[in-house]
Amino acid sequence: MAPSAPRLRILGAGRVGSALAALLEEAGCEIVDLWTRSAARAAASSAAIGRPCRSGALDDDAEPAASLAADATIIAVRDDVVAEVCRAGARLLERAPVVLHVSGATPAARALAEAPAELARGTLHPLAAVSTLAQARRVLGEVYFGVEGDEPARQLARALVSRLGAHALELEAEQMVRYHAAAVTASNLAVALWGEAAALLESAGVSDGLAALLPLIRSTVDNVATLGPIGALTGPVRRGDRGTVSRHLESLAQQFPRILPLYRAASLAALELARASADPPDVEDIASLQELLKPAADGAA
Ligand SMILES: NC(=O)c1ccc[n+]([C@@H]2O[C@H](COP(=O)([O-])OP(=O)(O)OC[C@H]3O[C@@H](n4cnc5c(N)ncnc54)[C@H](OP(=O)(O)O)[C@@H]3O)[C@@H](O)[C@H]2O)c1
Repeated sequence: MAPSAPRLRILGAGRVGSALAALLEEAGCEIVDLWTRSAARAAASSAAIGRPCRSGALDDDAEPAASLAADATIIAVRDDVVAEVCRAGARLLERAPVVLHVSGATPAARALAEAPAELARGTLHPLAAVSTLAQARRVLGEVYFGVEGDEPARQLARALVSRLGAHALELEAEQMVRYHAAAVTASNLAVALWGEAAALLESAGVSDGLAALLPLIRSTVDNVATLGPIGALTGPVRRGDRGTVSRHLESLAQQFPRILPLYRAASLAALELARASADPPDVEDIASLQELLKPAADGAA
């Protein structure tokens, strides 16, 4: 059974660590210790969330907070230093039976392999893209969290997600890479597509491509939320308009060739959605578009 009001130690007071400290404290958890490496970050975190944050040596014996026991330690430093923090903070980690990390790319058994052996290890990954601490505080109470790891760690992670009013996605270790690739595709790769679309529009003479595209992007996201990807898909591939797609490919090859592989790959994915719809394009149009969009055999755009 997860404790009714978990006592937590949070290592890392960046966007995610500070936001979790603030939100979990508001949700009734006791944050016994919030640590970050640099004094500047500790001051910024403390000012932003209105609670103490210590900095400096991880297990500083002169720090009362460092000696306190907890139900779990949440490690919220950047991915590449999680192992280092596990090693340097071994004495601290031993003061809680559970250790959680918040990165989505790696299962807990691997990410936290350097933590003391007797601890239960788990993942508590917010499926969110947060650029600022203020945004993290706004959204982490309503997103999905990927939860994975040893059962006692999962139980505690689930209890924290529930306290936040967020949603838990139960995952197994072998699903983590695909889970994270899905998150990257939905967020980072969509950002890359929007960036390329804005650059393409600017290459056609529009001064602020992104400003012109934003209402289109927003209405598209709204349509996907309401209708799902198949229902929301519009455009020449959806209609089976081979002629329009062919003109795009010719123009892009001459004027903006770097986008061609992206255009072809995303159009083929769109064609799969169109094919799955209740009123797909004609079979001949689908076959013809597939032929037109497939990558050139010689690797040329
Ligand atoms: N941002 C997101 O959208 C998002 C979403 C889901 C999950 N996450 C995960 O959340 C974790 C933290 O990300 P974030 O966005 O909160 O990062 P962040 O705001 O950049 O904060 C990074 C944290 O890592 C600490 N750090 C950096 N180098 C360190 C080192 N060598 N030793 C010890 N601590 C070090 C920083 O401490 P100092 O500044 O004090 O040195 C700071 O506390 C990552 O695992 C990330 O994958 C982020």
